[in-house]
Amino acid sequence: MKGIVLAGGSGTRLHPATLSINKQLLPVYDKPMIYYPVSVLMLAGIREILIISSPEHLDNYKRLFGTGEQFGVAFSYAVQPRPEGLAQAFVIGRSFVGEDDVALILGDNLFFGAGMGDLLERAAARKQGATVFAYHVENPQAYGVVSLDKAGRATKIVEKPQKPESTWAVTGLYFYDNQVLDIAAAVKPSPRGELEITSVNEAYLERGQLYVERMGRGYAWLDTGTHDSLLEASEFVRTLQHRQGLQVACLEEIAYLQGFIGREQLAARGEMFAKTAYGRNLLRLARGDEGPGGPF
Ligand code: TTP
Repeated sequence: MKGIVLAGGSGTRLHPATLSINKQLLPVYDKPMIYYPVSVLMLAGIREILIISSPEHLDNYKRLFGTGEQFGVAFSYAVQPRPEGLAQAFVIGRSFVGEDDVALILGDNLFFGAGMGDLLERAAARKQGATVFAYHVENPQAYGVVSLDKAGRATKIVEKPQKPESTWAVTGLYFYDNQVLDIAAAVKPSPRGELEITSVNEAYLERGQLYVERMGRGYAWLDTGTHDSLLEASEFVRTLQHRQGLQVACLEEIAYLQGFIGREQLAARGEMFAKTAYGRNLLRLARGDEGPGGPF
């Protein structure tokens, strides 16, 4: 399975902070925002990742991540000339995806919760159709909203409804089989001029192939698109990291635990960042210091 991180957009709700820098490069507490969605793909076991961003910012991502060998993964890069919708990721990424299945994650979505890895692996293992993740929210009008029947099957999906029929928002993480390439290629721009991901999900729903995994109250799904939500996300990460002494979205740690990199590579990265909690976490892991309760 391949992975795509869509990290373009115009970031107008974060002006002037995003006048000269792409939103997904801003820090969420101690690391660039894009680390969080990349961590989700790596937890799902995905090792070939395409980063899509706007023409003026793509080089910054290349400088940040390079080939990906430091995490035992392979990054590719592609430009989205203008932010013309989430479904455009599959038009731009068509040759990258090739014959494979693909997961898409938005560059400004942050997920956290116990059992995330299992949830993701279950979605990645599904051979056919699409899997989306639904999250109970206070303000469904701002999102794609999915209605569910008693068995938890999707019955309807609507983009930003004025009168939502459900409180289940569709999050910015999607797993698709290879049909998505042709489905996305056939999507027509919406009245706001975007290739909507909801149109792709509706096509799967019509085929009876849209699966919904509910992320219950044990999960955090934060988006970081406004000044307040960005600060709240930073505070959330800081609180967790300080309290537990563990890292959220530490990519080398995930790589090591997934078997993508070895102990020496882990230690070398730890040395690079030795002045930070991020680096000290890597060095501790490389020493095999797992704490009294076993592996973290
Ligand atoms: P949005 O929050 O819808 O848009 P934005 O990031 O441009 O911000 P603003 O509303 O403040 O102008 O985008 C959600 C995510 O998807 C974000 O990570 C950017 C990304 N995105 C793209 O990369 N390309 C696109 O065409 C769109 C619509 C979004």
